[in-house]
Amino acid sequence: MAEETLDLRDLPRAEAYERLGEYLDAVLEGIDDEVAEMSTMACLLHHAFGHLWTGFYRVVEPETLLRVGPYQGTLGCLEIAFGRGVCGTAAATRRTVVVEDVNEFPGHIACDGRSLSEIVVPVMDDAGRLIAVLDVDSERRGTFGDEDRDALERMVARFARPRASQRELVPSHAASTPA
Ligand code: SME
Repeated sequence: MAEETLDLRDLPRAEAYERLGEYLDAVLEGIDDEVAEMSTMACLLHHAFGHLWTGFYRVVEPETLLRVGPYQGTLGCLEIAFGRGVCGTAAATRRTVVVEDVNEFPGHIACDGRSLSEIVVPVMDDAGRLIAVLDVDSERRGTFGDEDRDALERMVARFARPRASQRELVPSHAASTPA
């Protein structure tokens, strides 16, 4: 298939997310690779809506530290501690955080001074462990609401599906272990 980035800014948001979800599923069909999935999701989401920054912060030390992952936009902060800023808050609470105006969020970390509103969604694996957060930033105030929360939570649910690669690791590793 000839892949291309979509521009969905002219569609009603619910319809835009539906189109984006279908497109993402088609582009990623047969791919079982977290980095490829995060990169593709960040790219499509970013360009579909013309966001300021779209990407993932990965959990590199459980309950302690997030480090930047695949993203689109200007240079992102490299590391964020759990509990700090919007990303750290979403990670620590495992809840989506929607910020209508970042100036009113105490401790907001401004990687790009143009950011005015944002949404951060926790990303879990199939065992329910937090593996990352998805952070989307906008230059406009009040960009994100319940529709975005629902759609993005559904979108990152793909990371919670069982992974063939992980399932296969168990028997092959077990087979090579001396009895
Ligand atoms: N605004 C985020 C920091 C990450 S960047 O903006 C890319 C926060 O407060 O967690």
